[in-house]
Amino acid sequence: MKKIALLTSGGDSPGMNAAIRAVVRKSIYHGVEPVGIRRGYTGLIADDMFPMNLGSVADIIQRGGTILRTARSQEFMTVEGRQRAVANLRQREIDGLVVIGGDGSFRGAIDLHRMGVKVVGVPASIDNDIPGTDYAIGFDTAVNTVLDAINKIRDTATSHERIFLIEVMGHRTGFIAINAGLAGGAETILIPELSYDLDQIVEKLHRGQARGKLHSIILVAEGAGDILEIGRQIKEKSGMDTRATILGHIQRGGSPTATDRINASRLAALAVELLIEGETCKMTGFEAGRLTSRDLEYMLTAKKTLDQSILELSNILSI
Ligand code: F6P
Repeated sequence: MKKIALLTSGGDSPGMNAAIRAVVRKSIYHGVEPVGIRRGYTGLIADDMFPMNLGSVADIIQRGGTILRTARSQEFMTVEGRQRAVANLRQREIDGLVVIGGDGSFRGAIDLHRMGVKVVGVPASIDNDIPGTDYAIGFDTAVNTVLDAINKIRDTATSHERIFLIEVMGHRTGFIAINAGLAGGAETILIPELSYDLDQIVEKLHRGQARGKLHSIILVAEGAGDILEIGRQIKEKSGMDTRATILGHIQRGGSPTATDRINASRLAALAVELLIEGETCKMTGFEAGRLTSRDLEYMLTAKKTLDQSILELSNILSI
């Protein structure tokens, strides 16, 4: 293994820079030349690559976003696009590729593997929805960003005795919602994985009001429905004043937490080790608290399920 290329792809997540730093420095440590690819698969197809050195990744571990930039490439979905990508890697004599991204990016990595490229994936997504790993880079920072927002909204919700609905990201899953909801003491959490009954939610609001509760926080995962419509219906059914806040892309930015920096460094360094050992079509991950690697193709058929006991506990504690 003489040259390892790396790219970040899909939605950015805090900690991607720590992962980039680890790939570059771990490669150099082993005498391998790291090559950065800009804007994910878009840059791979456009041959937008550059040699990286120790200094290229100085002063980035604390920064959100990704210094390599990222993209969701339509061209990579085509056979011609993928062929051009492989040809560029061959022409530059690149022996291995590290893909830092989520499930969509990993599907692209599997395609490259099937075309003969040695590839290892490093899971990064604030949604934390990638099968085969309990944790993905950026999740911890995103949950803490949501938590900070809940704390602030709780202040104003209490002052005005209002019901607040807060929409969080998560794509089609509720991982961010259940974890931030438990940590923030949300009264109700709505997630796409479970159906909900608005009448029961209104009943809970009335129960709370009867015992002198001044406010209520309803956390809505983006895949669980239209927050404005849910808020309108709750107001109509309960007669209580509601407000809605959509947190949006602030959840994808910000300085990564210590957990995200540590985990990103470990996941990315392992990816380099695997390539040096001659492995391909692997992804790194954390399972039951341990750093692991498994077949990248596992995620094609597996589905990651969330731990419903977190939601159940949250409901008990916010009674
Ligand atoms: O996958 C990360 C994510 O932030 C999801 O939570 C969200 O649904 C999506 O990306 C938003 O994508 P975009 O930034 O392209 O609007």
